Amino acid sequence: MKPVNHYLAIESSCDDTSVAVVDSEGFVLGMLNQSQDYLHQKFQGVVPEIAYRNHAEVLLPLIDELIKKTALPWDKIQGICVTSRPGLVGALMVGVVTAQSLGYLLKKPVYAVNHLHGHILAPFLKDQQFNGQEPGGDQSYGPAFLFEEPHLCLAVSGGHTSIYKIEGWGNFKVLGTTLDDAAGEALDKFSQMIGLGFPGGALVDRASRTGDAFAFQFAKPFQREDLMMSFSGIKSAAARKISTLTPSQIQSKQADLCASFQREVIHQLVVQLQRAQELTGLRKISVTGGVSANSLLRQEVRQWCKSQGFGLAIPPARYCTDNAAMIGLAGIYHHKAGGLPMALDESVAASSIDGDFL
Ligand code: KG4
Ligand code: ZN
Repeated sequence: MKPVNHYLAIESSCDDTSVAVVDSEGFVLGMLNQSQDYLHQKFQGVVPEIAYRNHAEVLLPLIDELIKKTALPWDKIQGICVTSRPGLVGALMVGVVTAQSLGYLLKKPVYAVNHLHGHILAPFLKDQQFNGQEPGGDQSYGPAFLFEEPHLCLAVSGGHTSIYKIEGWGNFKVLGTTLDDAAGEALDKFSQMIGLGFPGGALVDRASRTGDAFAFQFAKPFQREDLMMSFSGIKSAAARKISTLTPSQIQSKQADLCASFQREVIHQLVVQLQRAQELTGLRKISVTGGVSANSLLRQEVRQWCKSQGFGLAIPPARYCTDNAAMIGLAGIYHHKAGGLPMALDESVAASSIDGDFL
């Protein structure tokens, strides 16, 4: 039997501090998250300086709690995986300096992970309770197919919106991407415009449930010859429409505004994913990133895959939004493919770097 190795993973690239223990088979043994939403809410967006300081305060206690919770002695941890790019430089520094210090003291290798590689691997995590059957509700999760099998991946978050053709680790081909804003960014800005708050995506999703998705049409119906996407047009059209409404109209029409905006954003993602499927003929689909927690996107993609008999890997919300478990799995793949540990003087980067095959 193959020996199973355990890795500690750290994610601190933006405003979530997350730590996890993941094994070399992709099982998550434990994960703890600390959201900073309550600190950034009054500024309607992430304030980098506040984010750095909060990561520095909470990261070590969180690791300590996780190690106690998983009851795994340090000598059973083979390595440490940490997000080193892309993200807020100060926030990344907190994670990397912590990982490097622990690695140096405990003589463990540290693997630097691209945050986006984490999102691409997230649908292939497994929960401890997962028994090899189809995903069972929110209690346990396991993917419908293996990461190594050729598949299409829609990665959609606050910073990225891309469709990839994936044929194993390092074999990622961008088929389409956004020409401007990421879908999550557009949802966040829209939420701000109508005074709904921060972070916007989840609030727009919730408000949409009682709204009429066809009450407003913001942008022209979506039509493109290629697989590119664009969300700034919908955002500007929504801003123009909202500027014609009084605050009380915005308030009374909040659910309709949200449902209509959400419909236009999600429609574009689904249409382009479907076109990518037609062009490639791939019958396995993964959907990941913060926006993949969206209930309309999940419903549409599930229905489509079911009706066509496609395999679908879409993780539960805990692995959609930023989390350390996905960083652990990406670090494990990097290491398995012969990737070297981070040098002590290796630093963080605000964007992806050469060799990230993205
Ligand atoms: O992956 P993520 O946590 O961080 C980035 O890497 O960007 O994604 C955050 C994005 C935010 O824009 C947030 O508004 C969006 O994901 N988001 C959602 C939902 N939950 C989070 N968007 C739509 N519906 C949701 N339920
Ligand atoms: Zn992310």
